[in-house]
Amino acid sequence: MMVTGKALLAGVMGWPIGHSRSPLLHGYWLNQYGIDGAYVPLAVPPDRIEQALRALPALGFRGCNVTVPHKEAAFRLVDRLDDSARRIGAVNTVLVLPDGSLEGRNTDGYGFWQNLQAGASAGWDVGSGAAVVLGAGGAARAVAVALLDAGAPGIRLLNRTRARAEELTSDLADPRLQVLDWEDRAEALQGAALLVNTTTQGMQGQPPLQIDLSSLPGTALVTDIVYTPLITPLLQAATDRGNAIVDGLGMLLHQARPGFHAWFGTDPQVTDALRRHVLGPV
Ligand code: ATR
Repeated sequence: MMVTGKALLAGVMGWPIGHSRSPLLHGYWLNQYGIDGAYVPLAVPPDRIEQALRALPALGFRGCNVTVPHKEAAFRLVDRLDDSARRIGAVNTVLVLPDGSLEGRNTDGYGFWQNLQAGASAGWDVGSGAAVVLGAGGAARAVAVALLDAGAPGIRLLNRTRARAEELTSDLADPRLQVLDWEDRAEALQGAALLVNTTTQGMQGQPPLQIDLSSLPGTALVTDIVYTPLITPLLQAATDRGNAIVDGLGMLLHQARPGFHAWFGTDPQVTDALRRHVLGPV
């Protein structure tokens, strides 16, 4: 990769940061497009996130991504928020504006929806039935906002801790959101057009998500935001009964596009070669 004294700079702040795939992802694009730039991992402990963000303009950074556990802190610390960040309540992308102030954006919902559109068959329609969203963490917020914006007729939200789902629903204040009991997740699938897992269940080292899919219509699309493994037990079970699936890797790839575009000036493409590159050993 070409890095001169004029290189455009960006990175990702997290703690820990060693397992982040974002440097690999942005590095691939910088290489592909021949951009004089660098995207580096920034290991920032929680008690130094404010200092680190405030240092971006002084260091000449164009901005950065923010990942676990800093997304909510960044939301509080930046000078202005875009609409998505405000609604999701978290920031994953920071831009240094010309006056040195910081703008916080959230592209997770965008990434989720772009990935779904890229992976779904042409006949699938978000408007054809309710979406069932499992989980109520930060990822579920981004997914819910994206689905509301995309025109989902209803969203059934189920979380092990019901109070968190209720808080999400009251924050987003949209009558299409409905909270159901975690114990009722099998029945909640009736008539659904989409099932989304945003919980950590099914991730490497975690037990599989326990859910009986027999009520899910054969036309429903199933997606998981977990991408390690790429085919989670949920996606395998969905495939086995004939449902179409979209894996979670594309959400990571697509959420990165707006940041890359803003910092480096090119809207990058998500390709199979990129998927293979990012899936490779880290
Ligand atoms: P993120 O912000 O990345 O979405 P999170 O806030 O840690 O991550 O949320 C993880 C989600 O997985 C939550 O919805 C969590 O449910 P709780 O709110 O009840 O904690 C869910 N989750 C974690 N372990 C779970 C389990 N064993 N069964 C069901 N849901 C689980």
